[in-house]
Amino acid sequence: MPQGLLFDTPDRYGLVSRALHWGMAALFAWQFAGMGIKLALGRHPISSFFVGTHYGVGTLLFVLVLLRGAWGLFSARHRPPHRPGPLGWAARLGHLAIYALMIVVPSLALLRHYGSGRAFAPFGIPLWDARETKIPSLVDAGNAAHGELAWFLLAVVAGHVAMVLVHRFALGHDVLPRMAGRLRAPQSAPAPLPVPSATGAAAAPR
Ligand code: HEM
Ligand code: HEM
Repeated sequence: MPQGLLFDTPDRYGLVSRALHWGMAALFAWQFAGMGIKLALGRHPISSFFVGTHYGVGTLLFVLVLLRGAWGLFSARHRPPHRPGPLGWAARLGHLAIYALMIVVPSLALLRHYGSGRAFAPFGIPLWDARETKIPSLVDAGNAAHGELAWFLLAVVAGHVAMVLVHRFALGHDVLPRMAGRLRAPQSAPAPLPVPSATGAAAAPR
């Protein structure tokens, strides 16, 4: 098992998983708050500010979820385990659904933008140029599902946070410290006790 604060152990998530979890949670909060404000205020300078950051932050989230998924696969065997039984399976399925939505939601928007034929340069980084031809199926898929699935992701995350509270206050099995508690390096195994020799003197263990 890899050692050190960066890595996950069976009793807590490490620094890399925590930075990805809380950093991405903050960026998701930004995306949803921005779109909520846009829906509430309509055309307004505050809405325009959030809309102006939506494409860039969304693209960053797409890159981060791929890195997070890769890190999750690398760490899978030494992460905190799920409970045995149906509750553990529900947690596994819930996390899997969150990953699927975190990938599908920005993918649909990126493909829609590609299909629209417009150039794309999030944070000024040119990813593709404008084209004459459009791909209507990509535009239609994005229009049909990007916003709806994004709100569905928000609902699933609300359920995720509710389950953290249920674990803490109803099940007596607090999982929050694994992701938010004090980060300690894994304890190294204690030195073996000296083995008494036939003469009574303690022999050094080999
Ligand atoms: C994971 C990242 C993202 C999240 C959570 C997210 C979330 C949302 C939400 C909640 C809405 C409002 C839907 C409504 O009006 O009811 C929305 C709209 C929109 N998003 Fe995103 N978005 C993300 C990534 C992106 C990306 C990468 C782009 C551009 C490439 C983008 C472009 C748009 C556009 C153009 C709209 C307005 C049209 C529509 O409702 O589909 N989004 N997004
Ligand atoms: C206040 C907000 C949040 C709290 C209190 C919270 C809490 C937690 C806790 C305690 C765990 C560890 C669960 C365990 O060990 O079984 C966890 C894992 C996880 N959370 Fe959250 N979470 C929050 C927001 C989010 C958001 C916004 C997302 C994604 C959109 C998310 C996605 C995940 C995923 C996928 C895992 C599994 C571990 C991983 O692969 O990172 N969480 N969360």
